[in-house]
Amino acid sequence: MIDNKKVLFSGMQATGCLTLGNYLGALQNWVKLSDEYECFYSVVDLHSITVRQDPAEFRQKAKNLLALYIAAGLDPEKNCIYYQSHVSGHAELAWILNCFTYMGELNRMTQFKDKSAKHADNINAGLFTYPVLMAADILLYQTDVVPVGIDQLQHLELTRDIAQRFNSIYGDVFTIPEPFIGKTGAKIMSLQDPLKKMSKSDENPNASIFLTDDRDTIIRKFKRAVTDSEAMIKHREEQPGVSNLIEIYSACTGKSFEEVEKEFDGKGYGDFKLAVGETVADMLTPLQTRHAEILKDKAYLDGIVKKNAEKAQYFSNKTLRKVQKKVGFNEKVR
Ligand code: TYM
Repeated sequence: MIDNKKVLFSGMQATGCLTLGNYLGALQNWVKLSDEYECFYSVVDLHSITVRQDPAEFRQKAKNLLALYIAAGLDPEKNCIYYQSHVSGHAELAWILNCFTYMGELNRMTQFKDKSAKHADNINAGLFTYPVLMAADILLYQTDVVPVGIDQLQHLELTRDIAQRFNSIYGDVFTIPEPFIGKTGAKIMSLQDPLKKMSKSDENPNASIFLTDDRDTIIRKFKRAVTDSEAMIKHREEQPGVSNLIEIYSACTGKSFEEVEKEFDGKGYGDFKLAVGETVADMLTPLQTRHAEILKDKAYLDGIVKKNAEKAQYFSNKTLRKVQKKVGFNEKVR
């Protein structure tokens, strides 16, 4: 609790171009929850170097992401928006938690298996211990709730296991966090293969809507989205492509699946795809305009980065000190 409010933590990687999946699965919910909780939203740059990055490009991408948080509607005066690498406690707590995590647990992580298959020439130790750093991010702020897409649930479960293990040895040190998964949009699928998650790193550019795509590109990509020959707009397992489009439309408009099915009853796939494309474009265009404006204001961004890193450092230090004491480190002489 901070000022009688429960704590929320979440983060995103600044690698690749963000997709509609990132927006609907995470960012949109962050904004919805931001009044209710004391929120920490991090640009998790420490996580990103598990994969090789071009330094100049990476620096710009991280800045773009930080500005995107604000453009999406997160007020940086109320929400702590910061770069993970500016707060030393993340790496420090991760080290300690590494010593409370088993190799077997990390070996089971599906994201590790996927990423090591994708980056077979660089299966580094960071990629393996990545979920421990994620646990540190969350536990450092005594987080109650973590809004994420479904793909992060396994990491959340591990975070809870590590926290419970630590607490069972040392007493109530960590709050046990709960995941928050949105009712819609928690797993947006590829537009070209609706059995696969929409991903930043898909080789087929038509598979993903990027948050930077212009209106025409968005509409074109939806027009090309893979559907089926059933000729009906229903949310059901047998129609994964159409269901994904319904899911997207529902997450953008707040309408239920039934309402969407009714709205397009008797209409063809062409009309439906165009409506989804236009709705997504209408949602993203103002976001892109705000984003460009925020990025231009260097002094404003610098001020936010500095102030919020100090705030995050302050709260994370409280937990870190407690943990260091519990494991038996000698206190610093001040
Ligand atoms: P990342 O950067 O891959 O994704 C950021 C957020 O977007 C969600 N997401 C999706 N949701 C719905 N459909 C999709 N197709 C889709 N693709 C991505 C993800 O679930 C995530 O919520 N390890 C994390 C970053 C992280 C983190 C944390 C998150 C580091 N520390 C602590 C929460 C708490 C990651 O790589 O997310």
